[in-house]
Amino acid sequence: MKRIFLFQSIIFVLGVLTITSACTKKEIMQVPGTVTKTSFGLMPDSTQVNLYTLVNRSGITMKVTNYGGIITSLMVPDKNGNPADIVLGYDSLSGYLKATPYFGALIGRYGNRLAKGKFTLDGTEYILAQNDGPNHLHGGVIGYDKVVWEAEDFKTDSAVGLKLHYLSKDGEEGYPGNLDITVTYTLSDNNTLTFDYTATTDKATPVNLTQHSYFNLAGSGDVKSHELMIAASKYNVVDSTLIPTGELRDVKGSPFDFTTVKPIGKDLVAAGGKPIGYDHNFILDTKSINDLAVRVVEPTSGRIMEVYTDQPGVQFYSGNFLDGTITAKGGNVINQYNGFCLETQHFPDSPNQPEFPSTILKPGEKYHTTTIYKFSAK
Ligand code: BGC
Repeated sequence: MKRIFLFQSIIFVLGVLTITSACTKKEIMQVPGTVTKTSFGLMPDSTQVNLYTLVNRSGITMKVTNYGGIITSLMVPDKNGNPADIVLGYDSLSGYLKATPYFGALIGRYGNRLAKGKFTLDGTEYILAQNDGPNHLHGGVIGYDKVVWEAEDFKTDSAVGLKLHYLSKDGEEGYPGNLDITVTYTLSDNNTLTFDYTATTDKATPVNLTQHSYFNLAGSGDVKSHELMIAASKYNVVDSTLIPTGELRDVKGSPFDFTTVKPIGKDLVAAGGKPIGYDHNFILDTKSINDLAVRVVEPTSGRIMEVYTDQPGVQFYSGNFLDGTITAKGGNVINQYNGFCLETQHFPDSPNQPEFPSTILKPGEKYHTTTIYKFSAK
């Protein structure tokens, strides 16, 4: 009798397990050409945050949350069609709320650094947070990576996407003017991911918006064997706090020469810095968004990422500050050089360096910039 009961119990438990796993599978089943919205949790003030799963018709699935416009996951097939998640991030909202080196996030109002946390515009000095040593970094203490954006998903015959909107109030993080921003992420069936940024203001203000995804085209490990090409014959020389000295130096014959393809790790130590590695704005030779700005190839998986942009620069950051203190998705510890960023943007500290291309948006003008990441494998 006891044995029969035990047998029945085992059958019951197995049955429950099968049903549960079938449901889980159904939940994560991705339908090509769709966007699905689920809850990603609540902010400390109870604001609802969502997670949008965008599935294109060519094998890419991207998850984006309207908290910081963060791309939490990007599943891209390798040369054999096997997908891997190629961006660093957390499993849950609480991870992003606790501490993050800007994993996957939208950055603003001014991406990159402003020296000593200040700038002067039309005779007025604006004082901002010094949240990176003596400098202001990525929009301050609560930059656009840490706010909840309004989001609207969409699909077309050849793409899926998410439109994000945020009104950054006059005085927020010390910046002048109400900045009304719309950022659209479009994942096409050609495996391009397009970031389209527009903004208007009611007072003159510096604007430098960018995207801070950390990529690892192998899905794990360090990125030193990724092969990189950057179409830039000059870069901004920086001081010890990563503020440009004003010198635009030729990359020729230096560790910063990526005009012909080479592994990221080849001259990484020679690039110097503290911590060692690349954290520099490369000045693009490209004339328009039609020209290839950056190409990265991961030789084992065959995954390829290409960048096209209308911006004058790209910050190539080799994940130097990652130091093993973050446990990210799937319990993975994130170590130095486990991911790289390609932040298309204007030069750092432009509002304080009049000889750099201007980043000032005036009332009546429209800020509009586009960057495309294109994925493939061979
Ligand atoms: C900066 C790095 C910084 C990183 C994350 C990058 O854009 O260039 O210096 O450590 O963002 O904080």
